[in-house]
Amino acid sequence: MNIIIVIYELLKMFFIGIQKGIFINPNGKKLSSYLESLGPIFTKFGQLLSTRTDVLDYETAKELESLTDSCKPFNVSQLKKIIEKELNEKIENIFEYFDDEPLAAASLAQVHSARLKTGQDVVIKVLRPNIERKVKKNLRLLKSAAKIFSYVYKESYRLKPNEVVKDYESTILKELDLKLEASNTNLTRKNFLDSEELYIPEVYWDLTTSNVMVLEKIDGIPCTDIDQIESYGIDKKTLAENGVMIFLNQVFRDNFFHADMHPGNIFVSKENPEKPGYIAVDCAITGSLSNDERYTLRACCEPIFEKPLSEIEFGKLLLYLFQSTRQYGLSLQTSLVLLQKTLIHIEGMGRQIYPDLDFWGIAEPYLDNWLAEQVSPIKLKNYIIENKEDILIKASEIPSVVFEAIDEIRSFSKNKNASNQRIIELENQLSKQKYINRAIAVAIIVSITIIFIVS
Ligand SMILES: Nc1ncnc2c1ncn2[C@@H]1O[C@H](COP(=O)(O)OP(=O)(O)O)[C@@H](O)[C@H]1O
Ligand SMILES: [Mg+2]
Repeated sequence: MNIIIVIYELLKMFFIGIQKGIFINPNGKKLSSYLESLGPIFTKFGQLLSTRTDVLDYETAKELESLTDSCKPFNVSQLKKIIEKELNEKIENIFEYFDDEPLAAASLAQVHSARLKTGQDVVIKVLRPNIERKVKKNLRLLKSAAKIFSYVYKESYRLKPNEVVKDYESTILKELDLKLEASNTNLTRKNFLDSEELYIPEVYWDLTTSNVMVLEKIDGIPCTDIDQIESYGIDKKTLAENGVMIFLNQVFRDNFFHADMHPGNIFVSKENPEKPGYIAVDCAITGSLSNDERYTLRACCEPIFEKPLSEIEFGKLLLYLFQSTRQYGLSLQTSLVLLQKTLIHIEGMGRQIYPDLDFWGIAEPYLDNWLAEQVSPIKLKNYIIENKEDILIKASEIPSVVFEAIDEIRSFSKNKNASNQRIIELENQLSKQKYINRAIAVAIIVSITIIFIVS
C-alpha cells in the first residue's frame, strides 16, 4: 500500500477517533462504537479484544463482547459466479436447490443453504471477493496504529498493542483459507465421531476449495436459546457437564481444541434430550498446547475449579495461568491466548445453561487419570520405543565421555603440577560415577532389549 494512502487512512482513523471522543476518558462503549465505525475487520478485532482479559479491564472487555461482525450480504449472483469458477461446474449441475437468501453474512464469508443433486442438505460457505487484499490492507493499518499508539502513549506497554495486533493477524489469516477450516473440521469430527457429546458436520471435499466449502447441514438449537433448550426437555445439567467433558477431551486427550467457541458457532442437538450433545461449526481457529502448558493448566485448575461454576472467576484462573506460565519460563504463546478465549466462551455458555455446575467434580477424576497416564509404564515403554536410536547412541557415549573428562583432568593436574585436593576429589567422584554411568547404560540397553522381546 502506498505510504500516502497509509497516512491518509491513519489520519482518517484519527479524526474518527476525535469524533467518537476516544482520546478523552476512553471506555468500552466508546471503543466499541469507534471500532464499529472503522469497518468489519476492525469490528472483528474488537471481538478478539473482548477475550483479552489479560490486557483489558473487565468492563471494557464486556462492552466489546457485544460486537458482532455480521455485515450486509454481497450479491448472490456474484457469489454463484465464485462457486462456479472454484468448482468448475454450473450451479444447476451441483445443486438441486440453492437458497438465495443467506443464512449468515459476516465480514469474511457468507453462508447459504442448498441441496445437492444427491438429496443431501448442505450449507455452502464462500469467502467474500478480494477479502484477502482487504484484510491485509486493514492489518497494515492496524499495525501502524499500534506502533504509533505504543510510541505516543508511554503507558501503553501494559496493553501490549503490537502483540495483540500480531495475535489478531495470525488468527484472521487462518480464516482466509477454507481448505484449512475444512481440514480442522474433519479432524475434530474424527476425534468425536464415537462420542455423544459433540457432533461436527461432514465436509464435502469434492466441493471444497480455498474459497468455497460445502458442509453437511445441521439442525440444532442455538446454545443461548435457553427457552428452546427447555422446550425440548433437554437435561441442562448433563448438557453443561458434557460441555466440560468436551473441553477436557479436546485439551487433554486430543490436544486439538476448537478455539472459536462463541455462541454463534455452538448448537445443541435436538436428539436424545436425556443425553444431550452439542453440534459445533466454524472450526477455522483451533489450538493445541505444549505438554508444559497442559501440566500448568492442570495445576491451575485445581484450586479454582473446586467451586461451582457460578462462583468461579475465570478471569482469576486465566491470570493465574498466565502468571504460572511466566514463572515456569513459558512465554505467552498464541495457544494460551486461544485457550483463554475458549474458556471465556465456555464460562459464558455454562453460566447460562446450568450455573451450579460442579466443574471440578468432573475435571478432577479426569485430570488425575490423565496425569497417571502421562507417567504410566506403557507411556514410558512407548517413549523408549519411539526414541530407541537416540537413547542407544547417548547411552553408548556415556562411558567414553566420562573417560575423556578424567583424562583431561589428569593431564591438567600433571601439566600444572598442581595436585590440589579438589581435583583429586573430583577425579575420585568421577571414577565412581564412571561405574554408575556404565551401569545406567547397561540397564537402558537391557530394558530396551526386554521391551523388544516382550513386544
Ligand atoms: N453446517 C451448518 N449447518 C447449518 N448452519 C450452519 C452450518 N455452518 C454454518 N451455519 C450457520 O452459518 C453461520 C455462519 O457460519 P460460520 O461457519 O460460523 O461462519 P463465520 O466464519 O462467518 O462465523 C453459523 O453461525 C450458523 O448459523
Ligand atoms: Mg461463526
